[in-house]
Amino acid sequence: MKLCVVGTGYVGLVTGTCFADSGNDVVCVDIDERKVAALNKGEIPIFEPGLSELVMRNAQSGRLQFTTDLASSVADAQIIYLAVGTPQSDDGSADLTALKCVIDECAPHLREDAIVVIKSTVPVGTNTYMYNRLSDLTGRDVDCASNPEFLKEGAAIEDFTKPDRVVVGVRRPEVAEVLQELYAPFLRTEKPFLVMSPESSEMTKYAANAMLATKISFINEIANLCEGMDADVNDVRRGIGFDSRIGFAFLFPGVGYGGSCFPKDVRALASMARQHGVDPRILDVVDDVNMHQKTVLLSKIKSHFDGNLNGKTIAMWGLAFKPRTDDIREAPALALIDQLLELGAKIQTHDPEAMDNVRSEYGDRIEYTEKPMAALIGADALVIMTEWQEFRSPDFVAMQHLMASPVIFDGRNLYQHSEVKRHGFSYHSIGRPSVVQVGA
Ligand SMILES: NC(=O)c1ccc[n+]([C@@H]2O[C@H](COP(=O)([O-])OP(=O)(O)OC[C@H]3O[C@@H](n4cnc5c(N)ncnc54)[C@H](O)[C@@H]3O)[C@@H](O)[C@H]2O)c1
Repeated sequence: MKLCVVGTGYVGLVTGTCFADSGNDVVCVDIDERKVAALNKGEIPIFEPGLSELVMRNAQSGRLQFTTDLASSVADAQIIYLAVGTPQSDDGSADLTALKCVIDECAPHLREDAIVVIKSTVPVGTNTYMYNRLSDLTGRDVDCASNPEFLKEGAAIEDFTKPDRVVVGVRRPEVAEVLQELYAPFLRTEKPFLVMSPESSEMTKYAANAMLATKISFINEIANLCEGMDADVNDVRRGIGFDSRIGFAFLFPGVGYGGSCFPKDVRALASMARQHGVDPRILDVVDDVNMHQKTVLLSKIKSHFDGNLNGKTIAMWGLAFKPRTDDIREAPALALIDQLLELGAKIQTHDPEAMDNVRSEYGDRIEYTEKPMAALIGADALVIMTEWQEFRSPDFVAMQHLMASPVIFDGRNLYQHSEVKRHGFSYHSIGRPSVVQVGA
């Protein structure tokens, strides 16, 4: 099939590349000329495992192209995927400016048989808005569909090509049939292709993210409770996770969720609820708990240094909002950096992939080191903000020698108490008692 994907960010680039890899002709369009120029030179603007190789292979075979020319790309395509950003507005709702602009720009160029699919996460009713708008602009019925994306950054290719399910929202079953054919190569393992109304499909995406965010805020609250009661959240997590009704996924306590999706999607759903006269009590609390969780590590740091961080050197491992990505949108590390800078601390950071993105926001207000160990030189404490694999088994002896004082604030519970303490560190983690317990 001939596809056009508008918006070549994390979702659009993965979508376009995976569809090209399954044999379709795909043109990825973006408004950002520098991004398109870079992609045409083989430079991938984001870090996503496996993506670079896949882009190269499909670009070389001619199945995947990048352009800023929306008009001719749309005119040529049977299926137009819209994957532009839908960031948070000031009032918490989703900002549809880019999407609405793209819908209007596409309208005059659509083929008679075109299907326009929204992949961006959009408020319930947006598909209907698009259908009405395209009818007004073209004077005919244009097939529209919702096909939300559930990929995780860091495992995006795997998630896209081996989805747990594909959800589409359509008005006519024939549209679903075309989309099912497009997805067929990824659904060979009998994973479900779920067809519903556009409204249910749009809601499904928000409900999924809100559920996952709720699990994270829930376990964070339990972690905070554990701390006050000398229980160990890691034991509790295992104690509940083995219950098949509960499971382990998204039940890791930490420094709060970040990224470009959970924070904005929880707020957008709450905003939708309010617009419809429903009080989003759970959603508001999930967001509140998360905002509070982003301050938990700072409280521990402040209490350790008796409130005085002026002139202290803090090493920080991990900047990305999660491992295996360079995405720093709403990353908890950035919230902590802001707080530490305000208190006069000096910050030495290391992240395997996200340092360039952080540098473009913070410049030389903080330091960046190419190796994790270099961040520790002369540090009064180490703070761990992202659970990159390379931070899991460090050389504690070498760390001791590099640091001015052996203190670790572990926002991801990477280490065993007993081991860190054996190496002489003062160790502060999330939801675990500071006294070493049986099995810790
Ligand atoms: N990032 C994720 O993990 C993820 C997962 C599922 C769903 N989503 C949703 O997918 C959507 C896209 O997210 P993302 O993370 O890929 O965003 P992104 O910011 O990485 O990419 C958006 C792209 O759209 C481009 N763009 C903006 N206006 C444009 C226009 N008028 N014409 C052409 N291109 C334009 C931007 O230049 C950018 O490259 C959002 O709605 C998001 O909520 C994201």
